[in-house]
Amino acid sequence: MKNRQLGPLAQKLYIKTYGCQMNVYDSGRMADVLAPLGYTLADSPEDADMVILNTCHIREKAAEKVYSELGRLRRLKTAREKQGGRMILAVAGCVAQAESEEILDRAPFVDMVFGPQAYHRLPELLAGLKRAGKAVLDTDFPPEPKFDHLPKDIPDPGAPGTSAFLTVQEGCDKFCTFCVVPYTRGAEYSRPAEDVIAEAARLAAAGVREVTLLGQNVNNYHGAGPAGPGSPETWGLGRLIRELAETDGIERIRYTTSYPADMNDELIAAHADVPELMPFLHLPVQSGSDTVLKAMNRRHTADDYRRLAGRLRGARPDIGLSSDFIVGFPGETDADFAATLRLVEEIGFVQAYSFKYSPRPGTPAAAMDAQVPETVKSERLEALQDVLNAQQLAFNRSCVGRVLPVLLDRPGRKPGQLVGRSPYMQAVHVDDPIEGPGAIVRLVITAAHANSLKGGVEGARGQGAGGQGAGAEPIAERASA
Ligand code: 5AD
Ligand code: SF4
Repeated sequence: MKNRQLGPLAQKLYIKTYGCQMNVYDSGRMADVLAPLGYTLADSPEDADMVILNTCHIREKAAEKVYSELGRLRRLKTAREKQGGRMILAVAGCVAQAESEEILDRAPFVDMVFGPQAYHRLPELLAGLKRAGKAVLDTDFPPEPKFDHLPKDIPDPGAPGTSAFLTVQEGCDKFCTFCVVPYTRGAEYSRPAEDVIAEAARLAAAGVREVTLLGQNVNNYHGAGPAGPGSPETWGLGRLIRELAETDGIERIRYTTSYPADMNDELIAAHADVPELMPFLHLPVQSGSDTVLKAMNRRHTADDYRRLAGRLRGARPDIGLSSDFIVGFPGETDADFAATLRLVEEIGFVQAYSFKYSPRPGTPAAAMDAQVPETVKSERLEALQDVLNAQQLAFNRSCVGRVLPVLLDRPGRKPGQLVGRSPYMQAVHVDDPIEGPGAIVRLVITAAHANSLKGGVEGARGQGAGGQGAGAEPIAERASA
């Protein structure tokens, strides 16, 4: 391996994030860990002294994408070195965890490779790189939880925006036969409730109004409750949500991603009683066929999912459900796929993600017989997406005329326009917003598209603030603005 000459510590950091929301959260925490060392964020790799690729390994081609990005960055690094400068190149996240040394073999110009459990050790890794002058690797699963080692007082965390992710749980013990997560993220771990509550309070103080609680199995959260007389030893997610709803400034709470078999009564009841909990739930079912679900090692049947949807709707009649689907899992027949379509028709999803099964090295399904041909996977994906897209559009259209509370969070493309999120995660555009980002405004929905809505400020047509727009129906969510 080539030796490296490192100068004084680099100061500008660029992080490219692939994949899931947890990676977005992790990238933020890496920036926090590096801030005390003097790193501030750069807008592009061209401006950066250190580039981290925070990678995702969930589906095929992820690793190949990383290698082609590394090829581009290598040219940048070489050009920089020719001019006497330097660039530290790091690969983090699940591809790093899964491929480990292989990355350094294939891309020997990479300086650091570390997995999702190691980012709190970034300062040590940087020191090690400087000391050794050669690439450093950290893909161990450490015994101590990384959350205990993350900085609590960040010198300049930057503006987190109006909506933020907050990881409460990590890892997965479910071992669905198609999935790499139990191998790349390790065993399930829940953060103590007090830590989560303190982080939510810090976010609220920085202007955040909506938190999305993250975990690969977030609804199996079982964190230590605060010590004290009468406290239960561990809290479930329902209890945690009730407490978080008391945080001053936090107006909206969401959580993702949930495993159907882990939806318990306490959590379902929170959907009925906690107005801050948004009426939207991403609850992946993957397939509507019991045979496929069994082969996937999912611990629920299609009917379990139907019953669960019924219980959720009993608790919160206006809840919108979202799901993930995999088509072309090994052995999936036309009849199995038809069962998936049937389930989709019966449940009615407000949005969904669907994927062709992609064999992941080291997972049981990759070695199963009866892999489904690519052409069949493509046909099924198209058929499923036709139905899902139609459901999404129908739901969006059903919002026209309703008044929805929208959390404004960013400028739109047109001058003066703002974009926000409805309770159901729809992007809502408003041309004359009156209030700025961070406000939750009641908007009359005037138009619906496949992926977004258009809204106008309620009362702008003469009804007065707080009144109902023509044809609008009241909705169950508390008006927060
Ligand atoms: N092939 C296709 N899709 C997958 N997912 C996870 N692993 C695979 C795979 N091997 C999908 C699942 C999961 C989502 C995050 O990614 O639907 O819920
Ligand atoms: Fe993967 Fe299944 Fe765990 Fe979800 S529940 S992370 S799909 S193993």
